[in-house]
Amino acid sequence: MAEREEEDTKRTTYAERAERPERTIRVRVPGTSANLGAGFDTLGLACDIYNELELTLTHAPGLSFSIKGEGAGRIPEDERNIVWRSVRLLLERAHRDHEYRGAIIRMKNDVPLSRGLGSSAAAIVAGLKAANALLYNHFNRREILHLATEIEGHPDNVAPAIFGGFTVSTTKGRHVDTFAFLPRLRLRFVVAVPDFYLPTKKAREVLPETVPRADAIFNIGRASMLIASLMKGSPQFLRHALDDALHQPYRAKLIPGMYDVFRAAREAGALGTVLSGAGPCLIAFALEHDHQEEAIGRAMQEAFAQHGVQAEIKQLGLDTKGAHIINPGRHTQEKEGA
Ligand code: HSE
Repeated sequence: MAEREEEDTKRTTYAERAERPERTIRVRVPGTSANLGAGFDTLGLACDIYNELELTLTHAPGLSFSIKGEGAGRIPEDERNIVWRSVRLLLERAHRDHEYRGAIIRMKNDVPLSRGLGSSAAAIVAGLKAANALLYNHFNRREILHLATEIEGHPDNVAPAIFGGFTVSTTKGRHVDTFAFLPRLRLRFVVAVPDFYLPTKKAREVLPETVPRADAIFNIGRASMLIASLMKGSPQFLRHALDDALHQPYRAKLIPGMYDVFRAAREAGALGTVLSGAGPCLIAFALEHDHQEEAIGRAMQEAFAQHGVQAEIKQLGLDTKGAHIINPGRHTQEKEGA
């Protein structure tokens, strides 16, 4: 019986292959930092650190994985894999899931896993972008944003992963709007990556359901000031815009020495430092022309060490492109609408 089934699968597969050959696509997706202090679940930026995905959709069922770099050995290599779940959702929404029932997934990851640099958003966007390209861009970028937000639950990481640059996103029910822009300041980001994982779920559980009005006002002012100073190119205002009262104070207990690292980075020349996404990474903003990244990184590392935390330092720039195909050809044409 099993043999018969295998034979049937093979027959179908060969016939289908002749009609619709399986194809492969490669995409590159940036890591991201969400919240940016006061913009909880709203603001984000894309960094020049990347995950690459090579995806082949197969007519025969079954999954094959090869995962290199960050997360190798930890990322599930079965139906639970988030790249596959994203591919699967896109195929279902395009009504093509009966046609493509399996996949060969190769991942090469530089974005640290589960540290607040958008590794899950990068995986979701990579899966959606690659599968969509293999369907000759059935969906436009705005539709991809909606699908990605549906999977991730909030848009602040998936939006910059898709569009690049800085992003402001709002949601109304299931509708998501994203405004992506490049700042009028040349910024560098110094990221301290602590040697422990912090699942987003755990970092959200420590947040209160409601917040005092004064804290809400505090954040509205800073989030607005942050966007205004980035768009206007005013670093003196940016210095006062990188504070938060809605999530960082509650999450500080999960990240030993967080405020000492903030202080050390500022003393070494950073404009300010925030928790990257849900953490545990901390990201310092610096002006490119100040050339203080080395000193800031050292100061952050030392401050963390005082609290018994080993941290790796990454000096990153802004990614301005977002997710893109890296074996260009006829798959790269996207529909208008985003
Ligand atoms: N806005 C999210 C949070 C980002 O802070 O929980 C992490 O996914």
